[in-house]
Amino acid sequence: MSSKVCPAYLSGSLDNRIRRFFQNPQKILAPFIKEGMTVLDMGCGPGFFTLDMALLAGPSGKVIAADLQDEMLDKVRRKVKGTELETRIIFHKCEQTKTGITEKVDFALAFYMVHEVPDRLAFFAQIKEILKPGGTLLVVEPPFHVSSKDFAETLNEARSLGYEIQPGPKMFPDKTAILIKN
Ligand SMILES: C[S@@+](CC[C@H](N)C(=O)[O-])C[C@H]1O[C@@H](n2cnc3c(N)ncnc32)[C@H](O)[C@@H]1O
Repeated sequence: MSSKVCPAYLSGSLDNRIRRFFQNPQKILAPFIKEGMTVLDMGCGPGFFTLDMALLAGPSGKVIAADLQDEMLDKVRRKVKGTELETRIIFHKCEQTKTGITEKVDFALAFYMVHEVPDRLAFFAQIKEILKPGGTLLVVEPPFHVSSKDFAETLNEARSLGYEIQPGPKMFPDKTAILIKN
């Protein structure tokens, strides 16, 4: 595993009330996720967004929680065990350069994860493969790890694959973009 990848022992910094105050998952994701959708939480980490994605997708929807690290997936598993959300979430372990996901999705979230991916072009191509026509990928990158120049390069890579790029929700100081498969 590359040293860029956020280790599971730091997951507390990704899943706490302070973050929820500044980055409310329901507010961020409600414009993208409707009841009955199949959605992907790519690089789900400890599941800060996963549970709210399952709530928004509703009983007829589905969330694929995907991550490189078993420890992260286990954290999410423990959170939903015995709850009504358990049956709405499918857990998937990725390889670093291969998502391995084949199910088609309406929406994918890549929150604070694209800068950890070794081959972004391959990553965006694999996500495009599983997005339904008109499906969207919301990319959010952190301010310190990712400069404006890096982010512009990332978006150019996605554009070269045919994604339409639109500005993402305003979440200063994070960098956001919506990538649409047309
Ligand atoms: C900084 S954490 C963010 C977690 C979550 N998205 C959040 O915002 O709380 C990045 C996560 O992406 C995962 N990750 C990094 N590279 C990945 C890859 N190539 N495929 C799947 N998951 C990856 C890491 O294991 C880690 O759990």
